[in-house]
Amino acid sequence: AAPLAVICAMQEEKAALRALMSDLETRDLLGRRVTLGRLDGRDIVVAESGIGKVASAVTAALLAREFGCRGLVVSGVAGGLDPGLHIGDTVIAHSLVQHDYGQLLDGGLTSFRPGVPPLGPDRGEYHFTLTADLTERLAQLAGAIDLPELPADLLPASAPRAWRKRRVVLGRIVSGDQFINSERERARLHRDFDAQAVEMEGAAVAQVGALLGLPVVVVRCLSDLAGSDSHLDFPRFVAAVSPGAALVLRQIIGIL
Ligand code: ADE
Repeated sequence: AAPLAVICAMQEEKAALRALMSDLETRDLLGRRVTLGRLDGRDIVVAESGIGKVASAVTAALLAREFGCRGLVVSGVAGGLDPGLHIGDTVIAHSLVQHDYGQLLDGGLTSFRPGVPPLGPDRGEYHFTLTADLTERLAQLAGAIDLPELPADLLPASAPRAWRKRRVVLGRIVSGDQFINSERERARLHRDFDAQAVEMEGAAVAQVGALLGLPVVVVRCLSDLAGSDSHLDFPRFVAAVSPGAALVLRQIIGIL
């Protein structure tokens, strides 16, 4: 069967997925490390793309072309935007937006018009939505997933016990070529886009999927909350939460 292509931006994210795969075979694809194998009995091909929209889009297109992939997946970590979510929770995208694409008007950040391309709406919105059928089936699966607790020594001393119960939700993920390390920007992205998480690849791969006619699923476990502490939380949690995304992907891969 044609494999699914899985794009991971960073080595930690790919390593977490490799740990759950069988029949591993490694190759080079124009300088990218690519691993072929099986996840829950399904053929996948995983690449470490590097960070950002261009790196992930090029890699997605190369994988699709080289391996005749039947769908695209992005697996890894993200910053949480929704104050109801915590580090270690997982967001599966029902829709994706490129938050740094659009028209920037005078008057500062708040005048940015989300999702409005400078060429006009008839040239396409940089906003991508899963089919209703896929969304419904993902929602059913997500509710039943149980993730293992995060290691206790990683949690802040002040963290309430309830913090450890890790949630898996469907939501909107926004992507841009910026690591968000600002409470103001976290609040703006949450408000302007009604989004649950922010990362730097998903909506770019969604555009590649739209152009090539392939379904795209993005699974992101939260490594930080995109606010003023995210530069501290991200390095502390990236390796600890990456397995969360891989475990969720293993639970949902059957629907693709
Ligand atoms: N990936 C993980 N955390 C992120 C953040 N705060 N901003 C952008 N991408 C991220």
